[in-house]
Order: sequence, then structure tokens, then C-alpha cells
Amino acid sequence: MKTFYIETFGCQMNAHDSEKVIGTLMQQGYQQVATPEDAGLVLYNTCSIRDKAEQKVFSRLQQFKRAGAGKVFGVLGCVAQQEGENIFDRAPHVSLVCGSASYTKLPELLVQIENGERRVTGLNLDTEDTFETPFTRRDNPHRAYLTVMEGCDKSCAYCVVPFTRGPERSRTGASILEEVRQLASHGYTEIQLLGQNVNSYRDPSSGGLDFAGLLREVAAVPGLRRVRFTTSHPRDFGKEIIDSMDENPVLCNHVHLPVQSGSDHVLKRMLRHYTRDEYMRRIEWMKQSGRNIAITTDMIVGFPGESDADFQQTLDLVDEVEYDSMFSFKYSPRPNTSALTLSDPVPEEEKGRRLTILQEKQRAIQIRRNADLVGKVEEVMVEGYNHGTGQWIGRTSQHRTLNFTTTAQLPEGAYLDVRVTRAGPNSLAGEAVSQIQ
Ligand code: 5AD
Ligand code: SF4
Repeated sequence: MKTFYIETFGCQMNAHDSEKVIGTLMQQGYQQVATPEDAGLVLYNTCSIRDKAEQKVFSRLQQFKRAGAGKVFGVLGCVAQQEGENIFDRAPHVSLVCGSASYTKLPELLVQIENGERRVTGLNLDTEDTFETPFTRRDNPHRAYLTVMEGCDKSCAYCVVPFTRGPERSRTGASILEEVRQLASHGYTEIQLLGQNVNSYRDPSSGGLDFAGLLREVAAVPGLRRVRFTTSHPRDFGKEIIDSMDENPVLCNHVHLPVQSGSDHVLKRMLRHYTRDEYMRRIEWMKQSGRNIAITTDMIVGFPGESDADFQQTLDLVDEVEYDSMFSFKYSPRPNTSALTLSDPVPEEEKGRRLTILQEKQRAIQIRRNADLVGKVEEVMVEGYNHGTGQWIGRTSQHRTLNFTTTAQLPEGAYLDVRVTRAGPNSLAGEAVSQIQ
């Protein structure tokens, strides 16, 4: 029997790619197993967004340098694309190296491996392909990821993604809507539309939809209760997106809009192509909309040349926006990126100090914003039950975790109303006030 094990690192795009890879492998007669020890084929779907993420796969491979005799090892995803055949030098027991832009070739590559080829690669980035497959093995029976576009045409100075995922290419609206309808007919009630720059979506067929149009069409599919999307780039984030959210309650109360820095000087050096004012205009649209939109962001501190005054502007912006949640990172130099040529006089310890200050500020904001919700009633989707605490785990439209108690037995994927009774920095707690709806 052909068996495989897969471990996934990185973002939702990677998680969803793995769901597609798993389906493709099963179609080829492979069976998924729970541990690398039990598998004939061991795959790592990798991330290289920061150095730490990249190192993980090499430490995993190291573990099997000896213990992996008789197994086939494959590296997929962003490290595969970035390092290419160098991976064979660093980890000679690897046989397959394949980036996400080549996944449509996976069945062919697998056959080559089965035929005993020792080194097989899929590394072409010059592609119009999007990885569409009817065999996707989705992890969750209620909430489905769905790719609308792949790749990235921006060239942010710090970012590997254009080098690891290739140029932007969108799926046709017809194929996306077909998949959404199918998912709804299989009982999925939540769809998360994915793209590295999801709002740059443009239907390649003539007279096709832009992203706001796609949102309207997806949200209108009968049976869906929640539609989310990630990640948005501020430059292409038009007011029509907020208008479509205003019009359609199925579109969730949440926008993730990475800003990266609050300083125009840094934004310029990052090649983000928007100013702080332009970013804030988008925040105003959201705050003035009829919806109670949760706003979240990504932030990089210690980008080369970031001065104390620049960092202060980031702190000011965070005070002004009051994000509901934030992912913040210390700048990590990445191969091929243009920021490698910038001089960087800021010492590492200073970067670490700034990250701590930013994260403490954000934590205080989250405590305040979550506390504002105490007493309110929120609809949640049930994600599971925590036997340790005796609480059900719910997710609000704003993407907050709301743990709650009820005497009823709930199926996962159910929706009901919960009154918020307590708030912490990262989650809410409450009591159910309605039956399943
Ligand atoms: N160093 C640190 N953080 C980075 N990100 C992307 N590239 C880097 C890098 N070189 C962060 C950005 C992005 C998020 C996914 O990861 O904030 O939005
Ligand atoms: Fe990591 Fe970026 Fe690749 Fe996602 S696209 S896996 S975040 S490097």
C-alpha cells in the first residue's frame, strides 16, 4: 500500500494547498497516515516568510537523515521554490522538490518517483496555472477554504512571496462560483476566500468580475451564512469592498488589512505604494460603514533604517486605529528581496525592544476592545468543545473566539447566540442565550 504523511507550515494558503495535495495523492492511490514513521512518502509543505519558519523544515529533515531509510522525502511550498535544487545538497535524502506554482504537475512527478527516479523537481514559476482540483480533501466539514487567486505581483522590499508563489493569476468567476455552489450543497456554511492579494482578484474571462463583484456573487449563493476573505493589500482595497459588505450580512464583520508600518518614510522604503493617510482613509471607510467591522493587521518592526521617530509613528497609528488583533514581527532578511541592499544601522536588541513595546500596547488595546463587548449578544459558529474547561468554543463574525456554556448538546458547525459575560486579551467568554438557529 502507498502511504504518505504530510506536515504543513505557514499560512492558510499553504493549509489549503495541502488539502488539495492530499486529495491529489489519494486520487493516485495513496493513503494518508498520522506519523512520518508509518509513511512511505513524507512531505513537508513549507513556509519561508521569515528565517525561523524556513529553519523548521531543515530541522525536521535532519531528524530523518538516518531514521528515514527506505522512505521518500518531499519538500513542497515556499522553501521548495526558494531553495530549489539546493535542498538536495542540504538534505540528500530528499527526492522531490516542488513549489506551489507546479502542483498541477504533482501526479506526473509522483509517477516519476514511483518509477524510482531519485531527484524530481517542479520549480517553474513562469505559469498561468492555478491549482484547481475536484479532489480537495477539506479538513473541516463546515468551513471551507477556497483559492480565488494565486501569486503576487507586488514587490514589497522585505517579502519572498513573489519569488515563492509566482505572478498573480486569478481563477475564473464561473469556476469559483461553481465550487462555492458545490460546497454549499455539501453543507458548508462558511467560505474563506483566499489569495495572497485577494482584493487584486480580476476574473480573466471577458467582462469578468472584480473582487467586490465576486464577493457579492459568492455571498448570494443559497445556504451560505458566512463569507470571509484574506489577505487584502491596502493599495487595491477599494471602497466598493466595504459597500458590498454593507449590503450583504453574509460577508463577515472582519477585514485583515496589513499596514506593516505607520511611517511614510518606512512605507516608502518597503515599496508598499501607499501612504499612511491613504491607509487611514480605508480605515475611515470601515469605521463609518453600517457594519461593526473588526480590523486586524500585520506589522513589521525594525525594517532597515526604521528610526525612533518612525517607530513612534507606528505606535501612534496603532493608538488611532485600535486594531482588534495584530500579528507583529521583527524584520527578517529574506533571500532575493530588494531590502537586502538597504543599510540597516538599527541593532537587533533595539528591534526586539520595539517589538515588545508594540505588543504590549496592542495587548492593552485588545483588553479594552474585548471588554467593550461584555453584555452584548454575538452569534457564534460552534467549533468544538473543550473538555478541560467545560466550555464550547465559538467563533464570532468578527473572528473572535467566544467560549461559552450551555446545557444543550451542540453539533459542530451549529450557529447560536451567546451573551458575552467576560473578556480577556485574546478571547471572550459567555453563556448561550438561544437555541441552534
Ligand atoms: N520579515 C518579517 N516579517 C515579514 N512578513 C513578511 N515578510 C517578512 C519579513 N521578511 C510579515 C508581514 C506579512 C506577514 C504575512 O508576514 O507582516 O504581512
Ligand atoms: Fe509562508 Fe508566505 Fe509562503 Fe504562506 S505564502 S507559506 S506565509 S512564505
